[in-house]
Amino acid sequence: MRTLIKGGTIVNADATTSADVLVDGERIALIGSDLDVEADRTIDASGKWVIPGAIDVHTHMELPFGGTFAKDTFETGTRAAAFGGTTTIIDFAVQAKGQSLREGLDAWHAKAEGKACVDYGFHMIMSDVTDDTLAEMDTLVDEGVTDFKLFTAYPGVFYSDDGAIFRAMQQTARNGGLILMHAENGMAIDVVAAQNVDAGNTDPYYHGTSRSPVMEGEATNRVIRLAQVAGVPVYIVHLSAIDALNEVRRARDEGLPAYAETCPQYLFLTLEDMGNGFEGAKFVCSPPLRPAEHAGELWKGLAKDDLQVVSTDHCPFDFHGQKELGKGDFRKVPNGLPGVEDRVNLLHSGGVVDGYLTPNRWVEVISAAPARMFGLEGRKGVVGIGADADLVVYDPTAKHTISAKSHHMDVDYSCYEGREVTGRADIVLSRGKVIVDGDEWLGAAGDGRFLKRAPTGDLLSRT
Ligand code: URP
Ligand code: ZN
Ligand code: ZN
Repeated sequence: MRTLIKGGTIVNADATTSADVLVDGERIALIGSDLDVEADRTIDASGKWVIPGAIDVHTHMELPFGGTFAKDTFETGTRAAAFGGTTTIIDFAVQAKGQSLREGLDAWHAKAEGKACVDYGFHMIMSDVTDDTLAEMDTLVDEGVTDFKLFTAYPGVFYSDDGAIFRAMQQTARNGGLILMHAENGMAIDVVAAQNVDAGNTDPYYHGTSRSPVMEGEATNRVIRLAQVAGVPVYIVHLSAIDALNEVRRARDEGLPAYAETCPQYLFLTLEDMGNGFEGAKFVCSPPLRPAEHAGELWKGLAKDDLQVVSTDHCPFDFHGQKELGKGDFRKVPNGLPGVEDRVNLLHSGGVVDGYLTPNRWVEVISAAPARMFGLEGRKGVVGIGADADLVVYDPTAKHTISAKSHHMDVDYSCYEGREVTGRADIVLSRGKVIVDGDEWLGAAGDGRFLKRAPTGDLLSRT
């Protein structure tokens, strides 16, 4: 099957060019002006951009949390991702306490195989660092699961102490992988949260005020310094606060291999969204939403490469029946927000249209940097000859209004309900196959393949 995409403007992270793209089978075969070649199908992209399919390196399909499970499956979540222009996800397999990494990883393969509609990889959440699990890390890197997320938050669940984190970092320095850190001081946060509940402050808003940005800054500095001594790059996930951003900036100015992502919720939503009684539960995530001044600084950080990636931390729970588990005690609200479908358009609208990001920088933070930093360079994240034909014909002028009534995520609300965005994925190809055409779904569960990724520790240590 050969598909010719004609007349579009190719927007890559490093250049913008007017050219046609010929897809042959699963790959991009040819790029050039006015290509005069035979094709089975021609897509008219005039007036549109042709961008590499976006990559979301932080999703949680069916994550167990707070006595329930994140609602999207690999099927519903990746279909929604595709409608939003995302053609690759990297999800977090979970090692529960007492389990081996293998058991956790096998469970995630079983969830995804035959269900995912787009290509997917895994990181591994490590919640039990032992001699055995340290040894298993090397095996996982060989299998293409090259990154390990550890937590200074969620005591009793995913939390690891500094010694455990340091041991995992040392192991990763040897095996060439990457350490991902959820950096908040969970121990101190739990004290404040309990004091709030004891004082009768049980609404979701107090989830936000219990988790001071200072405690994110403190933990961010701590894990960066642990990584410095262990001699390993570190990537801070879902960075939300100026305090944490400044620690990343300081480390990078010192020449340390410290990296970070932020998420749309920290760029577009604020602590105020967590008010309004129990409605605020819709916005409970960790780290929490912050006062508005933090978002302004995150946008600057994104523009200047203090932050390298925007992921979603997609972790959807229905408001009715799931978020409601926390009625009367905000600590019981399952943590996480839906977003896998909205990231590309939100970032285009609030980033490119509003003037914070160039179109190339937008492609960099949603696709090219994720590919490079997570071992997919050359295959994903670029409109280039030989790369997988994961392509989006993007209309940068189309407007639409985000709503739970029309989104494809399997969750009963949207954090961005009623927000108008500019920009929309018109046609989406996954390895050469058109899977989204306007509002029409042409993909299939099981078409997504597991991506064995290359370790990037050495690369990220050098740059
Ligand atoms: O609130 C969040 N972020 N839920 C998902 C789990 C995590 O910490 O990433
Ligand atoms: Zn986290
Ligand atoms: Zn997460």
